[in-house]
Amino acid sequence: MTLDLAPSKKTSSVWTRKHLLGLEELSREEILTILDTAEDFVEVSTRKRKKRSDLKGKVVVTLFFEPSTRTRASFGFAARRLGAETSDFAASSSSLNKGETFIDTAKNIEAMGIDAVIVRHNVPGAPHLLSQHLNCSVINAGDGAHEHPTQGLLDIFTIRQIKGRIEGLTVGLVGDIAHSRVARSNIHGLLKLGARVIVCGPPTLVPADIHRLGVEVAYHLDDILPHCDVLNVLRIQFERQRGGLFPSIQEYFRLFGMHAERIRRAKENILLLAPGPINRGVELTPEVADGPHSAILKQVTNGLAVRMAVLALLCGDPVAED
Ligand code: CP
Repeated sequence: MTLDLAPSKKTSSVWTRKHLLGLEELSREEILTILDTAEDFVEVSTRKRKKRSDLKGKVVVTLFFEPSTRTRASFGFAARRLGAETSDFAASSSSLNKGETFIDTAKNIEAMGIDAVIVRHNVPGAPHLLSQHLNCSVINAGDGAHEHPTQGLLDIFTIRQIKGRIEGLTVGLVGDIAHSRVARSNIHGLLKLGARVIVCGPPTLVPADIHRLGVEVAYHLDDILPHCDVLNVLRIQFERQRGGLFPSIQEYFRLFGMHAERIRRAKENILLLAPGPINRGVELTPEVADGPHSAILKQVTNGLAVRMAVLALLCGDPVAED
């Protein structure tokens, strides 16, 4: 029982932020604090009674303007496992359809006594805008092609869990870099923790100035494959493309798809990540997605621990009372 109520040893003094908007703005120490706090939360989901009291009496709302399976469900479970009351706001059936603005909608929800709002929006910067208008904590669950900080954190957490470190690893981010918020959050987080990051994709899907973030750029997966300890296989974001950015899906798969033959040419213990949803047969084959190198479902499991850590750090009580 004491274990349930004890604040994490690692929910430490370095944490002073109210919002989580991106990994670009976090320091190395803040990222490590989230990862270390998440370590404490991993076992909660393995218990018979999956409950803590860190957020008892708090109210957490998910406000999603884009589809989601993993992130929305994961934040909901994370908040409830920490004892919060949760609500899932359905943008499609809200008064936004009657002309209410995004900010007015959010302010009206906040007026019902909200402690944290988790927002996904197709416009980059939408969570940042909300953070300037709301008093509650704002968590970015994906803003356009900008950032998806909890996905970046759970990817990094999974790499550290399996490889034992981040520093010195070579991580390849493969695919649609231009439209990927996951790529940006991975880049900021991994570089701060000392990884070498190579982005790789067709020239039409790799921004010309991406090297300014501190990454290396490659256009041929087979050139970088033997050097990578980790490959994060990004989804082709068909919904954000105007089309015509590569000749065909078959051509894309031939040059950038992960299949059994490519795995044989990679490092023996290469770790494969994919943020999901995956397009089987486009970015990777089913045998690779479900094979021994893949940590795709482990990422989802770890996502819960990471989101519990984020919620506890942003709006948990220092000493939760039962
Ligand atoms: N990885 C990810 O953000 O998945 P969802 O779109 O299902 O939330």
